[in-house]
Amino acid sequence: MNPCVVYFSRTGNTKRLAQAIVETTKAPIFDLLSTQPSAIESFDLLILGTPVEGSSPAKETAAFIESLPQIETKKAILFCTYRFFGSGALNVMEKKLSSKGYEILLKVSKKGMKPDKETDFSDVLNEVKKALEKQ
Ligand SMILES: Cc1cc2nc3c(=O)[nH]c(=O)nc-3n(C[C@H](O)[C@H](O)[C@H](O)COP(=O)(O)O)c2cc1C
Repeated sequence: MNPCVVYFSRTGNTKRLAQAIVETTKAPIFDLLSTQPSAIESFDLLILGTPVEGSSPAKETAAFIESLPQIETKKAILFCTYRFFGSGALNVMEKKLSSKGYEILLKVSKKGMKPDKETDFSDVLNEVKKALEKQ
């Protein structure tokens, strides 16, 4: 698999998690706000991250997914950071990406990050590693 990490982050939490995933996977990283779908078309595994906002993925993330072309053979790992509930937003992303033709390998989330506090990402990183090893 040839993965890339794409993230949106409003206050920095999801960016920090995205950077940790990049350290583990050695995949290139893209800030969703400055990324066109064409920039990631050569990657067959999209690792996409978002904050949860209003129990949904951030609207910027939703718009990015909308802008992706219909495909047949790509896979995705979805991650989010959140304060209260994370699974609803991941389910929304899964549904949208599945309808674009992506196979979702993993949905993983990190609760309660604080911008000024170090966070242990090992749970998320282990899950991502395991999902990649299965491919
Ligand atoms: C406008 C806004 C709405 C939010 N709505 C939710 C929410 O509905 N549920 C939740 O669990 N967290 C919510 N949060 C908390 C963020 O999901 C959480 O702090 C996340 O880690 C922020 O990621 P970021 O720093 O990458 O933007 C909200 C935060 C903001 C700023």
